[in-house]
Amino acid sequence: MTAEQAHTPDEPLTIGEMSRRTGVAPSALHFYESLGLIASTRTPGNQRRYARHMLRRVSLITVAKNLGLPLSEVKDAFADVPLTQTPSHEDWARASRRWKRELEKRREGIERLERELTGCIGCGCLSMKACGLLNPDDALGTQGAGALRLRDDG
Ligand code: FES
Repeated sequence: MTAEQAHTPDEPLTIGEMSRRTGVAPSALHFYESLGLIASTRTPGNQRRYARHMLRRVSLITVAKNLGLPLSEVKDAFADVPLTQTPSHEDWARASRRWKRELEKRREGIERLERELTGCIGCGCLSMKACGLLNPDDALGTQGAGALRLRDDG
């Protein structure tokens, strides 16, 4: 019997066990913890212990990373999911709805980029005024007239 098999279902996991179960390096687990994406408790000997519901968080972080999503979006999606107690089904369902809305926005942005890219490839004018890719939504137009990317701060 391995040390991991000796655990009861509610017994927290060591960082080594978390790493083995999720395939995520201990250093990455430390990083996720520093960002507040996961949490641990400490033993009297100051060793980390992870509640088992952290496995799902780490797995979702890995999925998000594989999809190229920034950790800030993961944090937003996890905002209402409790860290210090086992999340309910409704907690995860709420996080899923929130995440889906973000993904939908991202998908719309990519589709818009795709449409504009097709036009730009045929155009090539690189106009700050006309090109939706160089200046999406005329973002620089709100800062006044003229070229604003180069400034004399001296
Ligand atoms: S390059 Fe001309 S519109 Fe984008």
